[in-house]
Amino acid sequence: MDHFRYIEGELFGEGVRLTDIADAAGTPTYVYSAATIVEHYDRLASAFSELKPLICFSLKSCSNLQIAKLLVARGAGMDVVSGGELHRSRLAGCPDDRVVYAGVGKTEAEISYALGFEGRGELRGGEEGKPIRLFNVESEPEFELLASVAKHHEAVTHAALRVNPDVDPKTHRYTTTGKRENKFGVDIDRAREFFEKYGANEHVKLTGLHLHIGSPVYDPAPYVQAIERANQLIDELARDGHEIKTLDLGGGFGADYETGRSPAAAEYAKVITPLLKDRVKDGLQVILEPGRSIIGNAGVLLTRVQFVKDSGEKKFIICDAGMHTLIRPALYEAFHFIWPVKVEPQFEPKHRKAEMDLPGLELCDVVGPICESADFLGLGRKLPPLKRGDLLAVFTAGAYGFTLSSRYNGHPSPAEVLITGGDAQIVRKRETVTDLVELELTSKSI
Ligand SMILES: Cc1ncc(COP(=O)(O)O)c(C=O)c1O
Repeated sequence: MDHFRYIEGELFGEGVRLTDIADAAGTPTYVYSAATIVEHYDRLASAFSELKPLICFSLKSCSNLQIAKLLVARGAGMDVVSGGELHRSRLAGCPDDRVVYAGVGKTEAEISYALGFEGRGELRGGEEGKPIRLFNVESEPEFELLASVAKHHEAVTHAALRVNPDVDPKTHRYTTTGKRENKFGVDIDRAREFFEKYGANEHVKLTGLHLHIGSPVYDPAPYVQAIERANQLIDELARDGHEIKTLDLGGGFGADYETGRSPAAAEYAKVITPLLKDRVKDGLQVILEPGRSIIGNAGVLLTRVQFVKDSGEKKFIICDAGMHTLIRPALYEAFHFIWPVKVEPQFEPKHRKAEMDLPGLELCDVVGPICESADFLGLGRKLPPLKRGDLLAVFTAGAYGFTLSSRYNGHPSPAEVLITGGDAQIVRKRETVTDLVELELTSKSI
């Protein structure tokens, strides 16, 4: 699951005591375990080895540069959705030919930047005239813009059509992306028409298909459904004279928010590999875009209890982290296991479950300092008795934690720490209140 475990009543990340991190770096702080990141990446690579996939880590799940560097060194590419993420990918040293770029609203400047030219303003870099590996195109007008920007630069690039397979991934409606009513991609029924119209473009070689059905997808069956539909489309397109060289399956594999919640990488691979292995032998390149399954369990959020307010019926554990630090509970009613970093021996958790059943636990709402009733990390939890100053760990917070955080109510962004064995490095400094106002200190006419 991960390398966070209790030893004699104290939570460690690999070889480092988390109380030491909180003392040195303050709270709230995101703490990541390098060994967990590498282990999850390697397991995925090994589970899917028969398909020889290019694994493009989904930067939106966690975009810290040092973590991106770690994955790039392991052989990963990057899945980006903006010029800002591409800038990070380049700074992390990821070669552009390992970068895929999705997103429904790419701007002209971002497209230019991804083609290897200067975007407008600050978007510079990349290797002059050398495009990223693949644009995942989501609509007709986007294809037309990409083609016109590529023509303007006299560039040639490759694109995949993101098809919407109309499959239910059985996850939260806000993270369901592959159903007909979602804004993503082009309906699979219109794909042949799309290739008919754009398949012969000189500047944008339409040679791929892209799928991303949602996240987290705990049941592998919807992948089977979506890939079967894609395979059928690949055959139809071949008959129409369009060869598909790349199939990008997107992301969405689960993470263990509770012990044993998610299928292992091997279980997804077991049903996906047979559907694609012959095509891979015939030259199809498979791409995966995992985020959560690699980084989810690799991160915990450390937060300190500010106050304990007793309502009579339950206790409010008021923390220095809240929806501004980790919005998943407020946005998706997502569950994160929360437990004190230091506990009496009888409270050492044997597993991480929504229902903890140990004598002496107290009913609590774990909430933040923000002026919103949606500002909670966990409601109706049974926790060991807590007091002001205690440290709590919010588990499986590595994905869509820091990247979705905000400065709402004037709270600076948290620090990020990366543990490798017995060493802990601050990989993102805590923001200060000065940082919050820096861009507003002067005004200028436009
Ligand atoms: C296009 C695309 N690819 C990959 C991902 C990563 O998903 P996950 O972190 O669940 O693997 C997402 C997440 O929203 C996505 O939109």
